[in-house]
Amino acid sequence: VVDIGKLYAQADVFTFDPGFTSTGSCESAITFIDGDKGELLYRGYPIDQLAEKSHYLEVCYLLLYGELPTVAQMEDFEGRVTKHTMLHEQMKNFYSGFRRDAHPMAVVCGVVGAMSAFYHDSTDINDPWQREVATIRLIAKLPTIVAWAFKYANGQPMVYPRNDLSYAENFLHMCFAVPAETYEVSPILSKAMDRIFTLHADHEQNASTSTVRLAGSSGANPFACIAAGVACLWGPAHGGANQACLEMLREIGSVDKVGEAVARAKDKNDPFRLMGFGHRVYKNFDPRAKVMKESCDEVLGLLGIEDNETLKVAKELERIALEDEYFIEKKLYPNVDFYSGIILEAMGFPTSMFTPIFALSRTVGWISQWKEMVEESSRIGRPRQLYTGPTARDYTDVAAR
Ligand code: ACO
Repeated sequence: VVDIGKLYAQADVFTFDPGFTSTGSCESAITFIDGDKGELLYRGYPIDQLAEKSHYLEVCYLLLYGELPTVAQMEDFEGRVTKHTMLHEQMKNFYSGFRRDAHPMAVVCGVVGAMSAFYHDSTDINDPWQREVATIRLIAKLPTIVAWAFKYANGQPMVYPRNDLSYAENFLHMCFAVPAETYEVSPILSKAMDRIFTLHADHEQNASTSTVRLAGSSGANPFACIAAGVACLWGPAHGGANQACLEMLREIGSVDKVGEAVARAKDKNDPFRLMGFGHRVYKNFDPRAKVMKESCDEVLGLLGIEDNETLKVAKELERIALEDEYFIEKKLYPNVDFYSGIILEAMGFPTSMFTPIFALSRTVGWISQWKEMVEESSRIGRPRQLYTGPTARDYTDVAAR
């Protein structure tokens, strides 16, 4: 590996690579993707094996520390995470400053950003103990932050975390339990939720992770860096695609309109794109989509809602697009977000909650990448630009313009 940056800096030249399609920005031992083979490995373990045999907190441990935990290590990790699931009571009050009709992702951006104001005893990035506490706090508190954004939007009282439940069960409990009623977390739904968390846990140098690394390269504290990642994730070309995809399926509305939507997506004069299709790296298939599709069929089957119109539109769209020359030639396949939205809707989440749930799942990836970067001490990220503006010119007085 040649650090071309140093060589080029000496010669005062740089590569022009808009969208960073061919620029490696760091070395990392966390996640491996082979876009041609459709392979995704977390610390060497294939994503399908982890989705089937592991569970999200174990995957968090793996991403953070590099190895699968022993029983004792897992117990210790779980204990540390559950110790931090509560939010500072003043943070609860902080929510009431937002409008009730705000997008939950806007609220999550704000609350995560505010974490450094509530937990400033773990913002010293040079102290390994504080880094560790911040890491655990982020993983432990994100489900509470996201669930409370949901509760706040619904006008319901916030439900406190239950540490006797698993990570996924507790999240569903905080979202759907109502104090006046008993709420039993369905094992089918908690398994599906856990899978969604696992499949979204990390994805090497995507836009939001690169944002976290870039923010971290300046020495910013971990909460501020993760808030930057949350903000970046929101866009429809990235984490916002799950919401955009389900809204698109609903807008298409019926199976007979699918052909029209595919024709629009192929029309270069029409900005319409099939949301949930395509990926910058996967050019054969998205291995997460494969697992998610299975999970989707399973959840809908078990909930008895296979007859859903949105699902029929999704299946028809998948069928037509996979047979269409345009999509084959451009190697556009359904990505993970094509199926995750359908599952989340079946669970009872509104579309506005899809991206916040993605943010909560990805927090472990962001913080693992941040941790790796800080431990290796890297240079500040500072891309160059190709200037296209005017050459130097003299200021003209306003009367003379
Ligand atoms: N529908 C129709 N055409 C598409 C689509 C699509 N979803 N995606 C790409 N194309 C076409 C482009 O028009 C382009 O055509 P051209 O070569 O004739 O100009 C070609 O395929 C390549 O597309 P790019 O935008 O250059 O590919 P890029 O790698 O930059 O973009 C992206 C990848 C952003 C994911 C894109 O495929 C897209 O916008 N998809 C829809 C949004 C989406 O689902 N995002 C989620 C990504 S996964 C994740 O974040 C978890």
